[in-house]
Amino acid sequence: QNARIKIDLDRKIGEVDEKIYGNFVEHLGRCVYGGIYDPGNPLSDDRGFRKDVLEAVKGLNVSLTRYPGGNFVSNYHWLDGVGPKEDRPTRMELAWGRLESNHFGTNEFMEYAKEIDTEPYFAVNMGTGTIEEAQRWVEYTNVKEGPYYAELRKKHGYPEPYGIKYWSLGNEMDGYWQMGHLNAEDYSKKAREAGKLMKLTDPSIKLIAAGASNFRPGADPMQWNRVVLDELKDVVDYIALHMYVGNVDDDYYSFVASPLVLEKRTQLVEGLIDEAMSRADRGDRDPIYIAWDEYNIWYRWRSEETMTGERALEERYNLEDALVISGFLNAFIRNADVVKIANMAQLVNVIAPIFTSEDDMFLQTIYYPLSLFAEHAHGTSLDVYVDSDKYDTGDFALGLGEQRAELKSVPYLDVSVTQQDDELIINVVNRHKDKAITTDIIAQEGEFTGDFEVFEINGPDLKAGNDFGKTEVETVSKELKGKGESVTYNFPAHSFTMIKA
Ligand code: AHR
Repeated sequence: QNARIKIDLDRKIGEVDEKIYGNFVEHLGRCVYGGIYDPGNPLSDDRGFRKDVLEAVKGLNVSLTRYPGGNFVSNYHWLDGVGPKEDRPTRMELAWGRLESNHFGTNEFMEYAKEIDTEPYFAVNMGTGTIEEAQRWVEYTNVKEGPYYAELRKKHGYPEPYGIKYWSLGNEMDGYWQMGHLNAEDYSKKAREAGKLMKLTDPSIKLIAAGASNFRPGADPMQWNRVVLDELKDVVDYIALHMYVGNVDDDYYSFVASPLVLEKRTQLVEGLIDEAMSRADRGDRDPIYIAWDEYNIWYRWRSEETMTGERALEERYNLEDALVISGFLNAFIRNADVVKIANMAQLVNVIAPIFTSEDDMFLQTIYYPLSLFAEHAHGTSLDVYVDSDKYDTGDFALGLGEQRAELKSVPYLDVSVTQQDDELIINVVNRHKDKAITTDIIAQEGEFTGDFEVFEINGPDLKAGNDFGKTEVETVSKELKGKGESVTYNFPAHSFTMIKA
């Protein structure tokens, strides 16, 4: 019997927020310096922006870009990165072991954001920073004129305020590795007061609380989330979650199922939000939503040597990684009612879809699903019925140092569907290693008509990847013709397929 995907237009999950196609720029390794910003390189423009990288970034339609960290932000003092470049101090960067010239800072980032047409999303320093410093940053970026820091921005050559709307209150503050790490109660107190000052400065901003990122054995991430949600339930608009997975055991079937663990965590936190909301006093504000503001595959460049210095976290991706990213994006869409922000970590060179050398660049395998989803998967997410063969994973390592997981009844087909106007976008990962899966796609009402556009991401084998001058994994176009209540498609082994119907 064929597998089945049944689509019912009445079963709506929620609106897909554009902001789930976000990305992240951190001062880490070659993400900023030697990545997006490389003054003096013949490939850069007069602002120092690598032109080839800019073009590739534009192909991702990045809706929202988080900046400047990450662990970096917990010892970052934004004043170091504004004003004449020759006066900016060089600092020891303690999170990732580099020297930070501060030649790229708030205004350079905002210029970049404008160029790539992305909404900026700033993170403030809740580690070594003060609530006053956070307030002053909002004043610098968002207040038109009058107070000292607004005038300072004008003096620096930027007369208009930027109106930065999204601000996160620190990064991974639950992590013992975080500079200035706090316990949940102390973090909540500090975040509440920082948020208060920031909102008094610009009431239109949205605040994101640092949810749990520490899923190492022995940690209690849901307890952190519970406390933070309870303490900040009247203050914040989002709770941030992070997840990195990796095929540590070289166990393909477990690895491609790992986005289901992200989905499970989403549902757990959704329950905690509901609980907190039942006791919140938010007036007519929306409930708190989830921001998966760091997600990716990261396990190869994760040793002490590969996590510091000029070249850090330079993970190279293969086909199975692209399938995992497709799975993450499907999971965000299937939870579109509560996941309203997601940021792939990160944009260039550092666990990134774009990889550069001094005189070249290439697109990693994970570039392709992100680009396809960001271009096409919009509108309303539909709750579809999927019937395909299933498998159980054994007990497996989710990532390096992460908790372990075990999943039962994982469907070989992982599906999400969006509807916008008359168009359906059907996103399907076939997790099967070696079998194509013939599938009937059934409309519960109405009919399919005509020719469909089909995009496929696949490659010669699971470990196939791209490199300078070599592309083994990319998006290719296919065809599907069909009419009537049902169309049949054969999803190839180890592939991602997007059908526009
Ligand atoms: O994205 C790399 C790092 O991963 C970030 O700096 C940190 O927030 C997370 O641990």
